[in-house]
Formats: sequence, structure tokens, C-alpha cells
Amino acid sequence: MKPHVFAAVGLKKEFDDGRVQALRGVDFSIAQGEFVAITGPSGCGKTTLLQMLGALDFPSSGTLHYRGNSIPDLPEPAAYRAREIGIIFQAFNLLPTFTALENVQIPMFETDMRAAERKERAGLLLKSVGLAERRDHFPAKLSGGERQRVAIARSLANSPSVLLADEPTGNLDSENAHLILDLIIRLQREQNMTLVLVTHDSGIAQRASRVVHMKDGRIVSDLAT
Ligand SMILES: Nc1ncnc2c1ncn2[C@@H]1O[C@H](COP(=O)(O)OP(=O)(O)OP(=O)(O)O)[C@@H](O)[C@H]1O
Ligand SMILES: [Mg+2]
Repeated sequence: MKPHVFAAVGLKKEFDDGRVQALRGVDFSIAQGEFVAITGPSGCGKTTLLQMLGALDFPSSGTLHYRGNSIPDLPEPAAYRAREIGIIFQAFNLLPTFTALENVQIPMFETDMRAAERKERAGLLLKSVGLAERRDHFPAKLSGGERQRVAIARSLANSPSVLLADEPTGNLDSENAHLILDLIIRLQREQNMTLVLVTHDSGIAQRASRVVHMKDGRIVSDLAT
């Protein structure tokens, strides 16, 4: 049996003192190297679930483990995010006062990589998402799709063992969406990276090895493709 990367049991998340129940008892496990697509209507809890996996927010109840360690009890959530996982946020979350090249280096600030090496790697990552020419631009001077690609390059900076991607190609034209998706899937295969990808696009979901469909804070189907 493959070791589990993530295991959730009875995972619930409430907001606003229980007025909003974003997750109503989610159970799943994800193995190393799996490519899982998460689909479901707007508001069903997909982003909330990714935030739990990324230790960006705490569950209200239930258990959630990463390689046997309880995520809500991690002593250093920031170190976990920097060393183990890459995150592509639905809203990019680029730092406005940093250039593209500097934004991509953010996760590497948590490592002991030398400045020159960091900069070189960031340059290569930007090249891999087709943005070599935009490296010195600030986010405000980039288009939505370009910002998205900077965010993707940044998420890959530390060669994460897990990539959490929230609609990673949602702001891209179909040509760039294909290129980026191919890049992510190639890395997932070559590096046996675990990929959890939220998407509304059924064509993208079909490229995953497993599709988890959510509705009203619950998993309503979980099927191998
Ligand atoms: N910080 C918050 N405070 C209050 N309610 C929240 C908060 N974050 C999310 N919610 C609510 O929780 C529910 C799930 O939100 P979530 O962002 O996980 O949905 P989603 O499936 O990612 O939707 P979308 O496809 O539109 O991105 C929604 O009803 C949302 O309004
Ligand atoms: Mg969302």
C-alpha cells in the first residue's frame, strides 16, 4: 500500500460562528504521486479544503494529517508550506512591491540557497512559464494571465513534493492553459509530485487520475478516471 500524503476524517470547517458550513464532514486520503482533480459548483468548499491542506486555516473539527502528522498541530506551518508544498492561489497573492523575478524567489528565502542561485532559478522558472521577458515587471504591470504564470513559477520554486493548485489556468487563454497544464503534469510525473488541482473545466479534470466532486461542503463522488 502506498503511504498516504494526506488523510482527512470527518473534516469540518465553519465560518461566522457556524452560520456558514463550508465543509460538512469530508473524508479522503491521497497517496504520494497521485493527481487528484477537485470539482464542484461555486461555494461548495474547494478553496476551503485546499486552505486546510496548506495549513493556511484551521478545521473546526475532524482530523487532517500530512504524512502522519496532524496539520493543525504543525509547530511551524510556514516551514511546512515552504519546504513541502507549493500553492497556486485562486487570487495569485503576488507581492505588489516585488518584481516577477523577486516574487518567484519568495519561497527560496526560507532555504539557505545563495542569492545568485536563487535568482538564476527564478529566471529559469519564469522562462518555463513563458515570462523571461517580464521578469523585472511588477504585478500591477502584468496581465491577469501573466500574474497567474508568475504565481505558478513561484509555487514550483522549492520543488515541492505536493502542489495545491486552485484553478491554476482559470485566467489563461486556451493556448497558455495547455502549456501550463502540460508543464505541471510533466513535473508531477517526473518528480512523482502529488497534485491536488481545483478546476471547473471537465477537460482538465479528465487528465487527473482521480476526480473528487464536491457539493455543499461534502464529497459526493470520488472516481478514478
Ligand atoms: N473567510 C470566510 N468567512 C465566511 N465565509 C467564508 C469564508 N471563506 C469561505 N466562506 C464561505 O464558505 C463557502 C465555501 O467557500 P469556498 O471558497 O471554499 O468555495 P469554492 O468551492 O472554492 O468556490 P469557487 O468555485 O467560487 O471558488 C462559501 O459559501 C463561502 O462564502
Ligand atoms: Mg474557490
